Amino acid sequence: VQRTLVLVKPDGVARGLIGEVLRRIEAKGYTLVAVDLHTADDSLLAEHYAEHAGKPFVQPLIDFMGSGPTFAAVVEGHRVIEGFRSLAGATDPTTAAPGTIRGDLARDWGRNVIENIVHGSDSPASAQREIALWFPAL
Ligand code: GTP
Ligand code: MG
Repeated sequence: VQRTLVLVKPDGVARGLIGEVLRRIEAKGYTLVAVDLHTADDSLLAEHYAEHAGKPFVQPLIDFMGSGPTFAAVVEGHRVIEGFRSLAGATDPTTAAPGTIRGDLARDWGRNVIENIVHGSDSPASAQREIALWFPAL
């Protein structure tokens, strides 16, 4: 079966939304394989966001992602990569569809980083790479 890496980013953790995100994942029918709560360090975040290296928003993004604890989970189920991306909604929370995590729970605060509550791997190759980074023991 397929696995994906889900992160509740520091904005979601600070706002008390871990339970709400897990509720939606479990209500959809997906299975939790592993979970962890810790503040990510710069080397992990630089690796995680390697595809964005050199873009102007990558340093603000890494600073934000290291600003407090992130809740990380490996989630399993047939087509879960696509399924969780659908639960999460579009990257920009202002226009993310109502009914999605970002559409219902996130907004633009006018800061220099997009705070959009969750991350979900975008392909099987990304999922494999990201799970190895966040859960090296799995
Ligand atoms: P993730 O699930 O977090 O990976 O989001 P995504 O796949 O919808 O977006 P993407 O991988 O393209 O970007 C990763 C993260 O970088 C986003 O969730 C945003 O927090 C941030 N980001 C992406 N594009 C921009 C941008 O144009 N400007 C800014 N400020 N941040 C961005
Ligand atoms: Mg992405």
